[in-house]
Amino acid sequence: MAVLEVMKAGNPVLKEKSLPVSKIDKNLRRLLDDMADTMYKYEGVGLAAPQVGQLIRVVVIDIGKGKKELINPVITAREGSLTDTEGCLSVPEIYGEVERAEKVTVEYYSRWNKLHTLKADGLLARCIQHEVDHLDGRLFIDIAHSLHKGEKQ
Ligand code: CO
Repeated sequence: MAVLEVMKAGNPVLKEKSLPVSKIDKNLRRLLDDMADTMYKYEGVGLAAPQVGQLIRVVVIDIGKGKKELINPVITAREGSLTDTEGCLSVPEIYGEVERAEKVTVEYYSRWNKLHTLKADGLLARCIQHEVDHLDGRLFIDIAHSLHKGEKQ
């Protein structure tokens, strides 16, 4: 168990494109555990590996319905669009209105190298898109319609 340092906006690592994971092994599973510890410690609903300085395509998410670990996630379908408020552990105390697809289908590998397909809507769909953006070096503040300081509304 370890809480990792979260990189903040302005750190160039957050602008890089992450590489696919080539080997799912014990080290990757340890990173997934540490990323989850970090996400829970800072009360985020998702965390992407570049936020802890690892430029690989790995994401953890928990919107309050249990932890999901996505390795090499690919969004294969998007439907509808919805604007809502987002924040990010890498952008403390800033929130913004971001337009996202309302529903997505994502394919990813589990920590046991099993391919999964997940259809998501609501907060989970938003979170998946936010985290996959991190893997492509994109932050929500880069695409938000408006930003404001303070508490999440
Ligand atoms: Co984020």
